[in-house]
Amino acid sequence: MISAYQNEFNRAKNDPLTFWQEQAKAIEWFKFPEKILSKDENGIDSWFADGQMNTAYLALDYHVLNGRGDQTALIYDSPVSGKKQQYTYKELTDHVARTAGMLADLGVVKGDRVIIYMPMIAESVMAMLACARLGAVHSVVFGGFAPNELVIRIEDAEPKVIMTASCGIEVKKIIPYMPLINKAMADSRFKPKNVVVLQRDEYPAELTENRDIDWAEQVAISAPHDCVPVSGRDPLYILYTSGTTGKPKGVVRENGGHAVALKYSMSTIYDAKPGDVYWAASDVGWVVGHSYIVYAPLIHGCTTILYEGKPVRTPDPGAFWRVCEEYKVNILFSAPTAFRAIKKEDPEGELIKQYKMPDLRTIFMAGERLDPPTLEWVQSKTHLPVIDHWWQTETGWAISGNPLGLETFPLKPGSSTKPVPGFQVDILDEAGEPLPPNTQGYIVIKCPLPPGCLTTVWRHHERFQSGYLTQFPGYYVSGDGGYIDDDGYLFVMGRIDDVINVAGHRLSTGEMEEVLGGHPDVAECAVIGAHDELKGQMPIGFVVLKDGHYSVDGNVEKELIQKIRDDIGAVASLKRVLVVNRLPKTRSGKVLRRTIKQVADGEQYTMPSTIDDPSSITEIESALQPQK
Ligand code: COA
Ligand code: AMP
Repeated sequence: MISAYQNEFNRAKNDPLTFWQEQAKAIEWFKFPEKILSKDENGIDSWFADGQMNTAYLALDYHVLNGRGDQTALIYDSPVSGKKQQYTYKELTDHVARTAGMLADLGVVKGDRVIIYMPMIAESVMAMLACARLGAVHSVVFGGFAPNELVIRIEDAEPKVIMTASCGIEVKKIIPYMPLINKAMADSRFKPKNVVVLQRDEYPAELTENRDIDWAEQVAISAPHDCVPVSGRDPLYILYTSGTTGKPKGVVRENGGHAVALKYSMSTIYDAKPGDVYWAASDVGWVVGHSYIVYAPLIHGCTTILYEGKPVRTPDPGAFWRVCEEYKVNILFSAPTAFRAIKKEDPEGELIKQYKMPDLRTIFMAGERLDPPTLEWVQSKTHLPVIDHWWQTETGWAISGNPLGLETFPLKPGSSTKPVPGFQVDILDEAGEPLPPNTQGYIVIKCPLPPGCLTTVWRHHERFQSGYLTQFPGYYVSGDGGYIDDDGYLFVMGRIDDVINVAGHRLSTGEMEEVLGGHPDVAECAVIGAHDELKGQMPIGFVVLKDGHYSVDGNVEKELIQKIRDDIGAVASLKRVLVVNRLPKTRSGKVLRRTIKQVADGEQYTMPSTIDDPSSITEIESALQPQK
């Protein structure tokens, strides 16, 4: 007999239109779509293009109208500020409607962009949903990014308004946001009309410019705004993500496909029930935060948790378990790096034993490969199912996982189990030929991509085509390499491009190289992601200085480290820059980054036959030796 998973997978594969039309019935439309999958005048594929809906309505009003008004929708828990606050669906709807009213008073209408540069506070969620309510397009920028990153996004998205807070709070450290905003506003060629600032008690900001608006004062005089109907293909948000070049890509997420896919994912992948407490310990600045702190749990009628803290040091490695006990969390989702941090500080899991978590059913992990030792540790210490699932900013939801709502497959450490129904995953070689099981190659997804995935790159459709669709016609190229085994399990082994993953944060080595290369002393450079026990990967920069330039007492190295902090942000975590005389290159001048990475990771490597000067590798080896 065919299994429940196989049946569902086959239906989605053989007749995707009927399959997704059925799934679309799980959400409430103002007008149900007739076009299930269609192309627009620019050749962009969209799901549910002529449906009428509103994502904030699905996340909030729908539940108030259907008996969930008094259920807790959002729990804000902030060990860094000592604050906790809960909002019912009714309360959150009121806040969001007023926030939408405030934006409307500032002239924001459907289709306008709004940048949200905020810490992990409830108002960030309100800001996102307020945009969705108006049909405006939000673009959240992670708080760990520097002003320059903000400028890139402002100039690309051209937002009417920026929403921010007076400060973020990292472990024992206040980060004032206004100086960052002011610098970005000064540097950007595009000038948003207003900056709305949420004043936090921990560090109120001085609002000096005419464009600055005090959030609380403005919202107090704004009337609640109703949900504006949008079409299925209207964009809900743009989320910038690192690519191979220095310029981040604006992933466009459309309203219709997004809501349908997330609703489907909650039951199929997470086996979540409406009313469950769902906690994605991530940040709203990343895709995990968009999909699984904000939209999916609310669309599904769950209680979601917004946690402003770290897995450790806020105050100790018991933080996750404390939150799980206190709020009776049913499903926990975080990145493996978070659990490695906990394991490092509490190797025996003593703090896990101090908390009672009878409600916690499953722990999900994504953001980077779930390494078998971390999997084994979390399983053995929590005695819970630990599920790895693989996805990307581009897809917005998991491409492969263990579809608990359909059936539970036995785990294979190192594998994110099977393709989720809707995703047809293949492994191809350089020439685009399918590879047999157990052979590593490019992981690709057959087009059309299912609902929820990006449909274009904001204002640069050609980047979507050239970056994802051109290499292997008919397929979306994920940028990851890996293989499928004899049982159909997918093993994602890592990026095959210049993207690296540092503590679950996606960064571009190409972008770091552009920053290092911009230093007046640097002739050329290479940045690689070296293996790191805690963060998965850490960048290391190798630089060749221009003739006649020298580093005295490591001054150039220090300047370069600071430059990355200033231009990209602390989150880039570049702590090592090494000056070398030459970079290993092929005779045609291509830098051998893969070999440099193998050397840095202490792996066996074969000297590339095309190398120009083998002694350049020896030099890398000695540069990497710890200084005596
Ligand atoms: N605003 C401002 N600065 C930030 C920031 C933010 N939102 N997030 C991180 N930073 C800063 C940190 O303060 C740190 O600065 P420092 O170099 O001055 O100390 C730097 O960026 C690096 O931060 P991070 O990579 O988070 O390192 P950490 O040592 O503070 O914490 C972990 C390490 C593993 C505990 C932490 O990264 C973590 O919890 N990761 C989980 C990641 C995650 O949720 N990913 C999302 C995908 S699911
Ligand atoms: P992001 O777009 O920030 O979500 O990062 C996406 C990238 O993170 C993917 O392309 C992978 O390289 C990596 N990634 C995310 N989840 C997993 C996983 N479960 N296993 C392996 N790699 C993962």
